[in-house]
Amino acid sequence: MSAALDALVKEALTTGRVAGLPDGHFIGGRFQPSQSGARMESFDPGRGTAFASFAAGDSTDVDEAVGAAQRALEGRWRDMKPAERGRILQRAASLIVENAHRLAVVESLDSGKKLAEALGDVRGAARAFEYYAGACDKLQGDTMPLGRDHFGMTLHEPMGVTAHIIPWNYPISTAARGLAPALAAGCAVVAKPAEQTPFTALLLAELLHDAGLPDGVCNVVTGTGREAGAPLVAHPGIDQITFTGSVATGIGVMQAAAANVTQLVLELGGKSPVLVFADCDVEAALNGVMEAIYENAGQICSAGSRLVIEASLKERFLGRLVERVSALTLGHGLTDPGMGPVNSAAQLTKIEGMVAAAVTRGARLHAGGTKAEGSELGHGWFYRPTIVEPVQGSDAIVQEEVFGPVLTVQGFESEEEALALANGTGYGLVAGIYTAEFGRAHRLARDIDAGQIFINEYFAGGVEMPFGGNRRSGFGREKGLDGLRNYTRVKSIAARIFR
Ligand code: NAI
Ligand code: MG
Repeated sequence: MSAALDALVKEALTTGRVAGLPDGHFIGGRFQPSQSGARMESFDPGRGTAFASFAAGDSTDVDEAVGAAQRALEGRWRDMKPAERGRILQRAASLIVENAHRLAVVESLDSGKKLAEALGDVRGAARAFEYYAGACDKLQGDTMPLGRDHFGMTLHEPMGVTAHIIPWNYPISTAARGLAPALAAGCAVVAKPAEQTPFTALLLAELLHDAGLPDGVCNVVTGTGREAGAPLVAHPGIDQITFTGSVATGIGVMQAAAANVTQLVLELGGKSPVLVFADCDVEAALNGVMEAIYENAGQICSAGSRLVIEASLKERFLGRLVERVSALTLGHGLTDPGMGPVNSAAQLTKIEGMVAAAVTRGARLHAGGTKAEGSELGHGWFYRPTIVEPVQGSDAIVQEEVFGPVLTVQGFESEEEALALANGTGYGLVAGIYTAEFGRAHRLARDIDAGQIFINEYFAGGVEMPFGGNRRSGFGREKGLDGLRNYTRVKSIAARIFR
């Protein structure tokens, strides 16, 4: 750890705070309080106590932010050359890197995640801006052959004002993967971070402004989903919505969008399988499973929450997995323990309830299964890393997203059975496959109903790879060049050429 980072962490750990956090919504290029004056608190999940307050917005603040974005769309932003737009995003990427330590400490304190993971998320956010910066001047259309007397072409126009609803599990990453392509496409944005983790979105908006983004192009309204999120997604001035969160809230957002015929991307949850075959590299599979479910304490939409394992390897693999899980230490995120807390008291209660209910239905615990007593720093929200083997694949613990450090185990005898188990939930976000056999990996990759497949390395790839779900996991794709297309619409122009 560098001395500068060390000092920031020390300050945050001893005082429980970070000095100089942004105060207010970011609207029209400046921070301002809620029009109602309302505020709310954000918690440090490692201690279970409030550490800072922020503006609690409502529909009046949302109206103002959408108005600022609409005006910005008609100003300097529209007239700016795409290459210049790209330079601003590139500068933003550099500023994120320059401020990485502070961003990561704030992200870790606010969300509970491990500092090392927060640093990775911040680097990923910078990478998203770098990636899309290079796309600004390459949003090319086509020309269509209409014969000698006509001329046809397409333009990729910005969608307009886009709304971004951000969850608490990956605050800066999710903000960056939506904002970077939207801005690259020439849109103006209004983001609503989760009320549990409002600060890094505000810091990001400030850095974008410092990078040269004109006033009003990027706005952030903080507050609850009901008070600030709902009026944003229902606003007639919004031209596109990118929502990441729960299925239930996503359905409500889709209904709100329908009233205004607003296009949207829904990135909802998952119950993603990790298929482990007896011929695999066991060490790689163990590493993959550990990362897939215990990173960010399992609060990942694409968590590998179901181990689906060949019967002949099952006992040996589970033995080694339990060993590794038992060695995971719990602690405050800023101390970089084996695993951090979960994000909220509500999330902890949900996890506890789901595992306890599975146990009453006869599920067997191989590890964990209870909450832990907080950290040396206080009564944080900790749940032990858990492995649970249900009696049946139809059990709720296998079918429903827990969003915590809870891995289920299912055995199989044949490739066909593995495929059926992989496709055996209502979700279709991700699947991991560990096998040495190329043909099998690609047969399964073809036949599994999921938006992305990881072969022999869970979470392989980066911003280049499109990401999104099938079925109840949602629709639309973020990241990659597909992610850019959410923020443009095609206009076709056909002309007659007179002789
Ligand atoms: P949520 O879906 O209600 O919250 C996500 C975001 O939506 C937050 O910014 C929230 O303020 C906003 N929101 C809430 N109601 C809204 C509305 N009516 N209109 C517009 N925006 C609204 O999820 P919550 O309650 O935080 O977590 C519940 C469960 O959802 C978790 O246990 C987990 O299973 C799942 N979840 C999945 C995520 C993912 O990455 N796919 C992220 C967060 C939660
Ligand atoms: Mg918080």
